[in-house]
Amino acid sequence: MFKKILVPVDGSEGSWRALNSAVEIGEKFGSELEVVNVIQPYNNAALLAVPLDHATVSQGNSELEKIGDKVLEMAQERLANYAGKTQFHLEVGHPSERVVALSKKLEADAIVIGSRGLSGIAEFFLGSVSSKVAQYANVPVLIVK
Ligand SMILES: Nc1ncnc2c1ncn2[C@@H]1O[C@H](COP(=O)(O)OP(=O)(O)OP(=O)(O)O)[C@@H](O)[C@H]1O
Ligand SMILES: [Mg+2]
Repeated sequence: MFKKILVPVDGSEGSWRALNSAVEIGEKFGSELEVVNVIQPYNNAALLAVPLDHATVSQGNSELEKIGDKVLEMAQERLANYAGKTQFHLEVGHPSERVVALSKKLEADAIVIGSRGLSGIAEFFLGSVSSKVAQYANVPVLIVK
């Protein structure tokens, strides 16, 4: 049931807790762990509202890519002692959509995700990414509180 587990991480404590849970499950089932970070580049609507020159936009987007790479590097360090196979994915676009699409593409058996992320507004139980992933994924989603 848990041959391949997808773990979306944004660098938040909540996402590291999710990664820890995925490790615990993965060690029992011999799962492959697929870790993904999604970066959101400036989109066309934003660029129409705030006209920016091409250089500024591409500089901003390449900074985002560096942050994404860094988050995946942190995840890789945390998985250094994991016995099973691991893979790391940097995706570009809307976080929940990219996560759900990747889970289908990879044929993941489950998604393990944090309840909250970088925004960390404690008054809500779920962040928008975890709530949409739970809503739209077609595999079991474990939300780690
Ligand atoms: N950009 C992202 N890439 C990969 N995983 C993400 C990303 N953003 C969030 N996640 C995953 O979703 C979990 C919940 O984060 P979410 O973004 O839903 O909550 P939040 O940041 O507290 O609130 P919101 O973003 O809705 O204001 C995180 O712990 C992480 O596992
Ligand atoms: Mg968030």
